[in-house]
Formats: sequence, C-alpha cells, structure tokens
Amino acid sequence: MNRLYKMILVVAIGFAGLAMGGEKMTLKDAFDGKFHVGAALGRGLFQEPGQPTLELVARQFNTVTPENCMKWEPFNPEPGQFNYEAADEFVAFGKKHDMYVVGHVFFWNNQTPDWVYKDAEGRQLTREALLKRMRERVRSIAERYKGKFHAWDVVNEMYNRGWLRRINWIGIIGDDFIEQAFRIADAELPKDVELIYNDFSMTDPRKRDAVVKMVRDLKQKGVRIDGVGMQGHWSIDSPRIEEIEASIVAFAEAGVDVHITELDIDVLPRHPKMRSGDADVKLKLQDDPTLNPYTEGLPEDMQEKLAQRYQDIFGLFLKHHDKIKRVTFWGTTDKHSWLNGWPIKGRTNYPLLFDRDGKPKPACHAVLELVKDDNHPEK
Ligand code: GLA
Repeated sequence: MNRLYKMILVVAIGFAGLAMGGEKMTLKDAFDGKFHVGAALGRGLFQEPGQPTLELVARQFNTVTPENCMKWEPFNPEPGQFNYEAADEFVAFGKKHDMYVVGHVFFWNNQTPDWVYKDAEGRQLTREALLKRMRERVRSIAERYKGKFHAWDVVNEMYNRGWLRRINWIGIIGDDFIEQAFRIADAELPKDVELIYNDFSMTDPRKRDAVVKMVRDLKQKGVRIDGVGMQGHWSIDSPRIEEIEASIVAFAEAGVDVHITELDIDVLPRHPKMRSGDADVKLKLQDDPTLNPYTEGLPEDMQEKLAQRYQDIFGLFLKHHDKIKRVTFWGTTDKHSWLNGWPIKGRTNYPLLFDRDGKPKPACHAVLELVKDDNHPEK
C-alpha cells in the first residue's frame, strides 16, 4: 500500500469511527438493500450478565445463525431426548428483532451422535431406515419452529476437495445422499424457507467445480436448492480476492444465491497443517508460543492489514451484491471467536469486526467506509 493511500485510509477510518461511536451508522443499515449482515450466536451470549453482546447483535445485525445448539448432537443427543431451551431462546431472539433467521445444520458428519446411524441393537441402519430418521429430524424441527426460519443449512461439508467424503452418510445412503437430504428438506419445510448447501474451502477450484456440478445436477432433476454457503474461514492473506470472486460468480451462474456463512479472518501465523480456508474442526495441534504472538494486543500494522483485508473483501461483496444474499460472521466479538481455541487451544486471535469489549475495530470502520456515500443516514 503506498503512503498516501494509507493516510487516506486512516483518516477515512477515523471519520467512520466518529460516526459509528455516535451510533449513526450500523452494519445492517450500511448494507441495507444489498445483503443481510449477521452473526452466529453461541449459547454463552444468552448467559452474559446484562447480555451486552446480544445488544450489540441487535443493533448491528439483521441475520442470525445458531453456533451449535441446533446441530444434531447438542439438540438431540440421545434417541427421544431433545434440548429445546437454547434453540427456543435463539429463535425468540431472531423473531423479536425481526431478523433473517438461519438454521444450522440438519446433516453433517461432525457433532452428530453415533446412535443416529444405528438401530436399538447397535446394528448399522439400512439406507431406508436412515432416510426415515433424517426425515423425522427435519419434520420435528419444522413443526416446532413453524414460520420461524428463513433458511436452513441442509447439508454441511460433504466434499473433500473435489470428492464426496466417504463418511457414514454417504456410506449408508449412497452417492445420492445430498439429493435425498434436499428432497426431504423441500418436502418437510415450508416453501419459503431457503435451502442451502454449506462448506469450507469453497475457493479451491476442485471443490468449486464439484459443488457447481452438484447444484446443476440437483436442478436438472428438479430438486430444490436455493443457496450455496461459502463459509469464509479465511486468513489475512489468503485466499486471494480473485479466487473468492471466481467462486461467487461460479455459484451464481449455477443458479443459486451465494451466502457468506461463517466469515472470520485468522490473523495468527498458520501451522503448515492448516490449509487455507479449511475449518476441519477435528484438527488439533500442539501448543506453540510462536503461533500465538499477539497475547498483549494486535500491533497497529496488523490492525491496519486486517482493516484493509476486510475492506477488500467487502468491496468484492458490494461489487457482487446482486448475487449475495447475506454475510454472516462466525461470532460477534473477538472474545467469543472459536479461533481462540482452534486448532490450538488458548490462543489470542482477532478475527472479527468488534474487539473483546464489543467496540468496533478499525476493520469495522473500514468496511463501513465503503458505503458511507450511499447509505449514510445523515444524507
Ligand atoms: C464449521 C461448522 C460450524 C462450526 C465451525 C467451527 O465451519 O459449519 O458449525 O462448527 O466449523 O466452529
């Protein structure tokens, strides 16, 4: 970045900061009419005294996703046992604030209990029995939360690069598992609930091509799929903007909306085992202090780099706003981000737009700066 540009950015960020400090500009207003902006909510936010982070969410965002509580394991850990409380709280919050409420997730290989794939005697289910169990899950959620959801992640992370993962779902049901999952979701949910396929590393050309082919095949068979979710667990310098753009365009051309579903920017040094854009929750690495350099705060040059990175990314989203339905961050403040604990426990990361005290960071101002001329409420 040349010096003049850097100075302009810093001054501009300062002005946006002033406006925002006075609550004149919020993310949801800034991008109103372009795409929804939101956050994933963890259960802990509902238990904070005075709920300050939820207040921040209500002020800044207009779409929410449950971080964990509706995944199969936390929601329905044993046959017949349902933990409704967290999901009810989440849904009520979204409704109260008139938000675009996203369900996450019906079918995934992680955070799914083993009993799901077995009968009462512990034998592996047949294809038909597992399909029936899938339908029961969707049906019971559809009944309990009728009219409360606007979209659902139907299937999560079924591709490893360009190939279907050889996991229980595919092993028992077969290669048409994704098709069957979308058929069930379409049949059981109201027609105005958008159905999404969600995955990480969606800028990998092999995965991009595989997902585009899957979308086209489903559509050709008359199976409804409305959106593709690009998780967006990205890092400070990869993937490149052009790679993100190529995927947004490719998915839109396949005839679906693009949802940026789990955005966060990892600023910490990456271990060689972490591939860019990956979010394999099973990856666990040894503690290593050289991979945790910012325990006392993020240095200014990194803060600026993060602001620039977010501005570039949102600049791209704005350019393609006609293709993008929403942008959801995976968390609200840096304090609550899963990236403090993955893939190494106990690190101090800075991946989001709000700092540990819930204050907007330079990255937040840099994002708002992109739309100040269009949407500034004082104009
Ligand atoms: C994946 C899942 C999310 C979440 C994140 C990490 O991306 O889709 O539900 O588990 O990993 O927290």
